[in-house]
Amino acid sequence: MKFFLDTANLGQIKEAASWGILDGVTTNPTLISKENVKFEELIKEITRIVPGPISVESVSTKAKDIVKEAESLAKMADNVVVKIPICVEGLKAIRELSQRGVQVNTTLIFSPLQALLAAKAGARYVSPFIGRLDDIAHPGMDLVEQTMIMFDNYGIETEVIVASIRHPLHVVEAGLIGADIVTVPFPVLEKLVKHPLTDIGMERFLKDWAKVKR
Ligand code: E4P
Repeated sequence: MKFFLDTANLGQIKEAASWGILDGVTTNPTLISKENVKFEELIKEITRIVPGPISVESVSTKAKDIVKEAESLAKMADNVVVKIPICVEGLKAIRELSQRGVQVNTTLIFSPLQALLAAKAGARYVSPFIGRLDDIAHPGMDLVEQTMIMFDNYGIETEVIVASIRHPLHVVEAGLIGADIVTVPFPVLEKLVKHPLTDIGMERFLKDWAKVKR
């Protein structure tokens, strides 16, 4: 499983990158709005810290404008992946961009059919938002499972990024389903490493080591 960090915060990205397990980063307009850094500088810095794919979202609404914006975002660095929300104009843009070699992550996926269409249009990644579905009492992980089954049935190579992750159990479930990628907020990533029994065990080992004659 690949681990992406779902943030635009440079401190968090540097810290997670130092752990040696970070494969990429996903940003969105909301995450970027929280940072007090100019947009282009911020993206370029993220692409320098993490060599893997960095998703940056297009905010245009017409296919022609999405394509233009996506091409300028993709020029910022070789590892930029353009995030495009699923919609008819988005599909037209994805087709055009994939033919021009721009990698697309289709975002705001809430049904397996949206994922299937995005993949058919040429998206490199699709991002089902599971937490936002859970929030309205629809099991988000069902969407991931159905998407994975459909992709498997047709040998579709588009990778599934499990997005809108709220807690470690989402990551466990994504792993059991065999999702390609999880994109996690930093506080969730920190929780993945922790276990109270590990802390107790480490404390006991250190205490006992202090008693050893050396
Ligand atoms: C994914 O690419 C999105 O940036 C993100 O996971 C959205 O999560 P949220 O529902 O917590 O805003």
